Amino acid sequence: MGIIGEEFFKERKYPFILTLLGLFFFVGVLIFTNTTNTTISTFNPFVLSSNNVQNQPPSLLDPLPAPQHDHHAPPPAITNQSQQQQEKEAVLIDWKLCKGPLAVDYIPCLDNWEAIKALKSRKHMEHRERHCPQNSLKCLLPLPKGYRFPVPWPKSRDMIWYDNVPHPKLVEYKKDQHWVVKSGEYLVFPGGGTQFKDGVDHYIQFMEETLPKIQWGKHIRVVLDVGCGVASFGGYLLDKNVITMSFAPKDEHEAQIQFALERGIPATLSVIGTQKLTFPDSAFDMIHCARCRVHWEADGGKPLYELNRILRPGGFFAWSATPVYRDNEKDQQIWSVMVEITKAMCWSVVANGRDSAGIGLVIYQKPTSSSCYENRKEKIPPLCENKDSKNSSWYAKLDSCLTPLSVDGMGELQSWPMPWPQRLNSKPPSLLDSDATDEFYKDSKLWSQLVSDVYAEGLSIKWSSIRNVMDMNAGYAGDLVQYMQFSGLDRSILLIPLTVICINTILFASALIDLPVWVMNVVPIDVWDTLSVIYDRGLIGMYHDWCESFNTYPRTYDLLHSSFLFQYVEKRCDIVDVVAEIDRILRPDGYLVVRDSLEILNKLTPVLHSLHWSVSLHQNQFLVGKKSFWRPTAFE
Ligand SMILES: C[S@@+](CC[C@H](N)C(=O)[O-])C[C@H]1O[C@@H](n2cnc3c(N)ncnc32)[C@H](O)[C@@H]1O
Repeated sequence: MGIIGEEFFKERKYPFILTLLGLFFFVGVLIFTNTTNTTISTFNPFVLSSNNVQNQPPSLLDPLPAPQHDHHAPPPAITNQSQQQQEKEAVLIDWKLCKGPLAVDYIPCLDNWEAIKALKSRKHMEHRERHCPQNSLKCLLPLPKGYRFPVPWPKSRDMIWYDNVPHPKLVEYKKDQHWVVKSGEYLVFPGGGTQFKDGVDHYIQFMEETLPKIQWGKHIRVVLDVGCGVASFGGYLLDKNVITMSFAPKDEHEAQIQFALERGIPATLSVIGTQKLTFPDSAFDMIHCARCRVHWEADGGKPLYELNRILRPGGFFAWSATPVYRDNEKDQQIWSVMVEITKAMCWSVVANGRDSAGIGLVIYQKPTSSSCYENRKEKIPPLCENKDSKNSSWYAKLDSCLTPLSVDGMGELQSWPMPWPQRLNSKPPSLLDSDATDEFYKDSKLWSQLVSDVYAEGLSIKWSSIRNVMDMNAGYAGDLVQYMQFSGLDRSILLIPLTVICINTILFASALIDLPVWVMNVVPIDVWDTLSVIYDRGLIGMYHDWCESFNTYPRTYDLLHSSFLFQYVEKRCDIVDVVAEIDRILRPDGYLVVRDSLEILNKLTPVLHSLHWSVSLHQNQFLVGKKSFWRPTAFE
């Protein structure tokens, strides 16, 4: 070693070597600086991996090759320079597959076993309520083995692929009641149920015969089915132009809501427990419970007060359960408590009957005037005071008081909406401001045109493959106002939830009149509350906070639509987490349509690419992402 050093100085090679070293150092610094810059300017990945650089997907200009099953790849996207720049800078997220036996059907806020185990009580169904984990899902859910594109509507109402929801328990458990039967590769739904001995069709007809003023699909348009089982009641009511929000908890009735959504029937996971349901006041024309196992009479009637809150004045509660028609001691006792509580709530019994199979039904009606409340000798339950109705049902405890009847802008009690279908386009009773109402009419035409031009024609969506649709932001807030001003549209159109217009456009524009879709209208908790208007118009929806996971099974929606939502969400949580949730609830081959600022669209694009989705931009305002069947191979 010493000899080599001597020669080195003797032969005077050191100036050359030092220059070379200096050069290496300079180049090294240059490379390091460049890498650092790229990482900083790249949008928020939660895991970075050097391997990913090799697997980087093609840019927007070079969409992913369509997979074998994809016959409807989007057209080449239109990009501008800054987008191309973003694409170059994209660093991929190293997605991993979630593991564990529950991963395939995982619902973060309902499967949080750590939180459920720590509960002090389960007496009031606390274990079926939402308990969201602190950290959002950071992995992708695996597909069930043999998963394929769902059976299309309307065939899906009666049969679905077993492999898509491979849960056999209800087949055996409810064998005698014909809820669901296994037949070869299919699960078949013959329209049976606990209370539908002669079939649900017959039961629906029996209800209208018992109370003719129900007038399915005209007077009664929006129904809530509590404890819906596999949602055959709601599924068959669709034939009568009635839209039903069916709900039940994730409980021992294995996969009931998963079946309902796979069938293409509107449904959600929820429970009558200790908290309010996430619907606005006076939403439903009718609430139905066919042996739904809710102890209505419990807790001094709190569950009934909640029904009273969400029932429209003049609306009906239809109850077919054993206390209505059996005379054993327990049922009789429940019945007498029900009589007492419903009387104190000023509900009146308007019909009572028994069908050919011996199933009894009682129908109550909520009052249309406050006089009964005032005339009660004892004011128990009291009327709720100081009620701020805005989003007041999100994580709120059940009240022990009665919500006063809703009033309109003139202080008059709100009237019943027009009969369906006029109801969709007539003035919603809960729209308070009369100027806004005028403008609502004036501008709806203009807006409808925009929606029909862009959504129906311009986005290359294969609408015939779509059944379950969710508008993630059916109400609006300030950023949309800015957009309106920018595009010359009037602020008043904010009063029309976009999905309502989509439905108007989609269902009533001549070219699209037969589209077989239904829409879950979600009103985020931190935007302008338009959910009452949505219900007034004869449509359904619920409140939600998109910084948390939605109460639905994986792979339950065909299209998610987000209009100016991400700008709000990113102020409170990580946009990547919201995309992971979207990936959870969207079916493979399903679409995400985002309307937002270019900045947001540019942030979303690399994240969607990292999920191997195809992405296209339209008019620098609309992003259409199409989910693929791709799943990571490595586990978390
Ligand atoms: C006997 S099944 C009846 C199903 C259906 N209504 C029928 O008639 O076929 C009872 C239903 O009530 C639901 N359920 C039980 N407790 C509930 C609660 N606290 N809130 C809402 N649904 C509940 C169950 O999950 C199940 O869907």
